[in-house]
Amino acid sequence: MKRPDDIKDKIQAVRETYGRDLLILGHHYQRDAVLAHADERGDSLELARKAAARKEASRIVFCGVRFMAESADILTGPDQAVYMPEPAAGCPMARMADEMAMRQAWTRLNRARAGWLPVVYVNSTAEIKACCGEWGGSACTSSNAARVFEWAFRQDKRVFFLPDEHLGVNTACDLGVPDDQVAIYDPRQPQGGLDDETLRRARVVVWKGYCLVHAAFSPEHVREVRRRRPAAKIIVHPETPRPVVALADAHGSTSQIIAYVKNAAPGSEIVIGTEQNLVQRLADEERGRVTVLSLSPVICANMAKTHANTLLALLQEWPASHRVTVPEPVAAPARRALETMLSL
Ligand code: 13P
Ligand code: SF4
Repeated sequence: MKRPDDIKDKIQAVRETYGRDLLILGHHYQRDAVLAHADERGDSLELARKAAARKEASRIVFCGVRFMAESADILTGPDQAVYMPEPAAGCPMARMADEMAMRQAWTRLNRARAGWLPVVYVNSTAEIKACCGEWGGSACTSSNAARVFEWAFRQDKRVFFLPDEHLGVNTACDLGVPDDQVAIYDPRQPQGGLDDETLRRARVVVWKGYCLVHAAFSPEHVREVRRRRPAAKIIVHPETPRPVVALADAHGSTSQIIAYVKNAAPGSEIVIGTEQNLVQRLADEERGRVTVLSLSPVICANMAKTHANTLLALLQEWPASHRVTVPEPVAAPARRALETMLSL
């Protein structure tokens, strides 16, 4: 068995042989031993931008989950190859919306009334992004969802958002959309479980999907912190259900949570409701300045599938099975949805 130091040195040696030809991207939810080798770390928006910007890298390694690597492949040129150290690392939320069900929903919405624009969370398959691009919509991340909704509203459109119910509801609420104008489309119900009257009234329709990590936070977790640590501030990711967001002090994407902690006054206490690898890293980095605690420690099992040794194996062997490619007929319309997001 290889010792951690051997693995570290070997990865470093391979990186040096490739130089600027190789770009390793790592999401903030990755384990420290993997992130130590990333040229760039970031949230999903930042990493999509980095992938699109580094034209000279012929090999891009994405340490994250599949939808992120697919977006990188869509946004990079034909001479750039995207790989994942662990190709089985998917996002369960992305699998909660499939193309056929999305097309059925689109027909259903447009039968009830005209004037919809699709907005898809990047945590979705390339096929879902392709439908979105085909219908003139935009992708979004949790960092810019409000900006993308406003873009749709400025065109006097209604938003069909998928696949995360909670990010959709939280964004609509942040923008002051009344509750009775937000409807939940459940793909498991006939007609999405919505009647025509509800659809005619709705300004925002959100798909009933969720993140296993963030849906695990409950109002009781927040109340417990309030009881035990009345001085602490609580911030949660917007994939967290609305009742929890409503009780928290703040909510924000991964990079907004990091900024919240970095800007906190010395001596403050911050309790975070998001993926545990990020919370633990912030706690370690801030020790002695700010106390960072977890609302409840939840790991993203898929992000955790990537280890330093799987990264090393990829860099040594480049197996074709680890390459992520989106066929051009899907990539072309999906690219429109992603480029619209990046331009906003
Ligand atoms: P960010 O867009 O904040 O990076 O979130 C990605 C994600 O998967 C959250 O669960
Ligand atoms: Fe998907 Fe949630 Fe994991 Fe993010 S944290 S990759 S949304 S399962």
